[in-house]
Amino acid sequence: MDVMADAAAWDWVNFMVRWLHVVAAVAWIGSSFYFIHLDASLRRRDHLPAGTAGEAWQIHGGGFYNMVKYTVAPPHLPAELTWFKWEAYTTWISGFALMVVLYYRSADLLLVDPDVLALEPWQAVAISVGLLVLGWVVYDRMCRSPLGRDDGRLAAAGFVFLVATAWVTTQVFSGRGALLQMGALIGTMMAANVAMVIIPNQRRTVAAMLRGEAPDPALGRAAKQRSLHNNYLTLPVVFLMISNHYPLAFATPYNWVIVALVLVVGAAIRHFFNSRHAGKSTPWWTWGVAVAGMAAAAWLGGVGPTRPVQTAAASPVTFAHVEEIVLSRCSMCHTASPVWEGLPAAPRGVVLDSPEAIRRHAGPIGIHAGLSTAMPPANVTQMTDAERRVLALWAADPAAVR
Ligand code: HEC
Repeated sequence: MDVMADAAAWDWVNFMVRWLHVVAAVAWIGSSFYFIHLDASLRRRDHLPAGTAGEAWQIHGGGFYNMVKYTVAPPHLPAELTWFKWEAYTTWISGFALMVVLYYRSADLLLVDPDVLALEPWQAVAISVGLLVLGWVVYDRMCRSPLGRDDGRLAAAGFVFLVATAWVTTQVFSGRGALLQMGALIGTMMAANVAMVIIPNQRRTVAAMLRGEAPDPALGRAAKQRSLHNNYLTLPVVFLMISNHYPLAFATPYNWVIVALVLVVGAAIRHFFNSRHAGKSTPWWTWGVAVAGMAAAAWLGGVGPTRPVQTAAASPVTFAHVEEIVLSRCSMCHTASPVWEGLPAAPRGVVLDSPEAIRRHAGPIGIHAGLSTAMPPANVTQMTDAERRVLALWAADPAAVR
């Protein structure tokens, strides 16, 4: 196959794997939200049999549902039992496949940034896989250690661990690669919670019942703890997975602080719903935390302080200079038939090969190459800070630049 047909085929593989990944994740997160909500909405009633935590009534799709939860297990194993695991497994498998197709195949552009750390692509891939495994092992040990008996302290330790890991990844990978790596790490923790703790514990419970023994309640409690972690991590993981579209979140020096803020905001929003659904208090303050956290993230990511790139240049900026920079640093990729090997068409349809096209894209150029260092990927065309400053100043007020 020629290079172009090959690139086009990979592009379609990417698209289809991503489609599967999004659909599987919707199913997984949907069932996770559903069961946490169901758990919280259970109410104790006198008529319920012994060993139950409560019941809930629901109406959906034209029918009434009466759900009863048995805390450890029902007296008899039902003939048919629905397990929930393929949503999680499919999400992880398709997510990892997407990571290979996109980030590992193009590690030189997407994972490595020589300005951060000059890694060979295979080294970046090895570190990425190693961190996924290590991250799970550390987290799992924390849950099984004495720390795991205190949910509050475990959450605090988990937060510190994730923020420290975020800092490390931003010192190793490109900003975009680092945030995706964090998303992949948290996603791996969540899927491994299902595969290594929740499902095996449920299997042990069922096996004990088949032997006619009483199942160990600790098995169910451990599974519940992991399930709750998964619930609190869903919002941050989705943010991290879509962050690659927003260079002001990933390609700025405070990207790891933004990860920390998102962990807090995501957990606060989940806490609001968990508490409300449990019929306890309605903690409106969590929305204050969410708004303040996101405002801080936006401020750090470019809205707030004037950056060095926006301070006045030595000589006035001219459009001829802007054009020269874009044509020499961007156009080999951003043109109808890119010169850069492996690009089937102008990336994201962004063509930057004429003065009119450049003027039309002033905003995106300013965001991707001026205020942030998202473009060129891995700074392959070696753009200088002085050039970024010219683009940022022009993009701030294109009409003023002749
Ligand atoms: C090595 C090839 C290459 C070079 C050089 C390059 N880009 Fe890109 N650009 C890409 C790719 C690949 C994407 C798509 C990224 C993705 O899939 O998220 C992209 C996407 C973009 C986007 C759209 C982003 C979006 O999310 O819609 C803009 C805007 C952009 N580039 C601007 C620039 C500017 C400005 C320069 C020069 C300073 C530049 N690019 C240099 C490869 C390149």
